[in-house]
Amino acid sequence: MLIRKAERFDAGSMFAIVREATAAADTLPFRAMPDALCEAHWFGPHQAWVATSDDDRVEGIYKLGDNYPDSGSHVASATYIVASGARGRGIGRTLVEHSLDEARSRGYSAIVFNYVVASNAAAVALYLKLGFAVVGTIPGAFRHPALGPVDVYVMHRAL
Ligand SMILES: CC(C)(COP(=O)(O)OP(=O)(O)OC[C@H]1O[C@@H](n2cnc3c(N)ncnc32)[C@H](O)[C@@H]1OP(=O)(O)O)[C@@H](O)C(=O)NCCC(=O)NCCS
Repeated sequence: MLIRKAERFDAGSMFAIVREATAAADTLPFRAMPDALCEAHWFGPHQAWVATSDDDRVEGIYKLGDNYPDSGSHVASATYIVASGARGRGIGRTLVEHSLDEARSRGYSAIVFNYVVASNAAAVALYLKLGFAVVGTIPGAFRHPALGPVDVYVMHRAL
């Protein structure tokens, strides 16, 4: 697996991964993801990265940037998505570890995840294993298609 900065030619593969995850409706709050919204999220102020297979297919993506501008810009935020067919093989862990190194090298003092759906077992387990803590819970903030209202965690790790 190679992790490299996302390029314009990755957009189609990246947006397909985003849309697959949002269509599943069980981990991310967004639903329809037209090109303009994908562009704004993945080629906006946050730097996007891709994880590619040996045959150069994009299997995972993440983005990292300021959680808030100006007085909040010393704290990063990030989003990770792995294509459903590539999950459970360590790509997500590698992306989070890469982002921790990248955030440190860019001088951030912490990373915060603002919206981790409590029933998202894979993400919660992964973040806890890599040193993040649940620092807040927003009751029932996510409407899960099968579970109904589910809590949302704010997760934080100092760097
Ligand atoms: C969360 C996500 C990025 C994890 O990616 P992944 O490539 O499947 O993760 P990995 O294979 O690296 O597994 C990471 C760890 O989580 C654990 N894990 C994975 N699924 C799990 C589950 N359902 N329950 C408990 N632990 C789980 C693994 O055992 C692994 O631990 P290890 O590294 O100590 O062996 C992926 O599931 C995903 O893209 N989900 C949809 C989008 C999403 O939820 N993004 C995060 C939004 S906050």
